[in-house]
Amino acid sequence: VERKATNITWHDGDVTRGDRAAMLGHKGVTLWFTGLSGSGKSTVAVAVEKALMARGVLTYRLDGDNIRHGINSNLGFSAEDRQENIRRVGEISKLFADTGVVVLSSFISPYFEDRAMVRKMHEEGDLAFMEVFVDCSLEAAEERDPKGLYKKARAGEIRGFTGIDDPYEAPKEPELHLRTDQMTLEDEVEAVIKSLQERGIIV
Ligand code: PPS
Repeated sequence: VERKATNITWHDGDVTRGDRAAMLGHKGVTLWFTGLSGSGKSTVAVAVEKALMARGVLTYRLDGDNIRHGINSNLGFSAEDRQENIRRVGEISKLFADTGVVVLSSFISPYFEDRAMVRKMHEEGDLAFMEVFVDCSLEAAEERDPKGLYKKARAGEIRGFTGIDDPYEAPKEPELHLRTDQMTLEDEVEAVIKSLQERGIIV
């Protein structure tokens, strides 16, 4: 994304990311949960958050529905607005991850390109990033329909609904692939925790 501001200078302080990690006892990371509406992104993130809190790990959850009430309340669901949604949330995730927090970001984020952008942002900032594909068949998500949105989309009351008349581009090489229509929530949480340990982010 093009930067409009000119004559700006980056300032570093005396306290480093490493200092913060030493204080907290773990590193920061962005766990990026992507998947269809109703796939279980928020459910998994909430359960992982609870498990991490019990281990003394500082976490923060960013969630599509919530963020769209506040900072991104001016964005809709066109491809362009979804991209701006993901760009802003990617930057916010980066800031939190830099503080040393384990960030749990749950957004449909249906486009490869947008998720690649967030990954790149983190890589450029030398910050850990893990894409977690919260995978569930459209049939199962539609069966669950926790908010009744699929029903509305099928009835033509919502246009451009992901999976119905808007695309979802499934990740090809996610760090983690959770089949929520086949695994238990407990096993999913364990897989995430194990992966964080293997990467040396938490002990
Ligand atoms: S995106 O694609 O990443 O920008 O979407 P996100 O910010 O995660 O917001 C998804 C939630 O918005 C509700 N909603 C829709 N989703 C998809 N398509 C359309 N057209 C739409 N309209 C409203 C829906 O409740 C999504 O919540 P989740 O938690 O994913 O079910």
